[in-house]
Amino acid sequence: MRLDVFTLVPHAFAWLTEQRPVATVLGGELDLRLFSYRETTPLRNGQVDDEPYGGGAGMVLRVDVVAAALDAAYGGAPPKRVVALTPKGRQLTQAVVEELAAAPAVALLSARFEGFDERVVEHLATDAVSIGPYVLSNGDLPAMVLVDAIARRLPGALAEGSGELESFSAELGGGLEYPHYTRPAEFRGWRVPDVLLSGDHAKIEGWRREQIR
Ligand SMILES: C[S@@+](CC[C@H](N)C(=O)[O-])C[C@H]1O[C@@H](n2cnc3c(N)ncnc32)[C@H](O)[C@@H]1O
Repeated sequence: MRLDVFTLVPHAFAWLTEQRPVATVLGGELDLRLFSYRETTPLRNGQVDDEPYGGGAGMVLRVDVVAAALDAAYGGAPPKRVVALTPKGRQLTQAVVEELAAAPAVALLSARFEGFDERVVEHLATDAVSIGPYVLSNGDLPAMVLVDAIARRLPGALAEGSGELESFSAELGGGLEYPHYTRPAEFRGWRVPDVLLSGDHAKIEGWRREQIR
């Protein structure tokens, strides 16, 4: 799939592109492109935001700036999913991630300060997504959260089997995964459940099923 991120700080995504699973699928199942609003702004001196009409604190990301960025990237034919990242959007869940990961192309729009001119959300975006009921300083961490969550759903991103039985997956009925343990078998008197050391695969499977919440 193609994931396009529109941001003021494309370089902030460098770290993410070096980490698995994003690095694993990059250039294969994932075509990740980063666009800077500043490079295509129709305004002078790289201006991208402006004072709010009606007064008040903060600056607002201009609709003409976002439109110019989308036009430069898509020439008037944007992807079917253009997601504005905003605390006012639909709350991100695994179901939303699956939905976006199934799309052939998704654009993610990040803002900062007071956020988008509302016309971006109303007319340029097709979706508005919030990563949780709290306010971050800009949409770049939310965009990274989505890039990571989407990338791990793409074919080949994870070692075989590790992506299917995860927390919130359909296979677990949307529930939480069973607990994991590794060596040592005992540490400070905290023992690994005996069943996991039993070598009895049927019992282990049964125990794990019981632990799913
Ligand atoms: C400081 S926030 C703007 C907050 C906005 N004035 C409000 O009260 O809802 C700046 C930008 O960060 C991003 N952002 C902040 N929190 C977010 C969240 N929980 N989910 C998605 N994006 C978020 C959005 O792009 C937002 O426009």
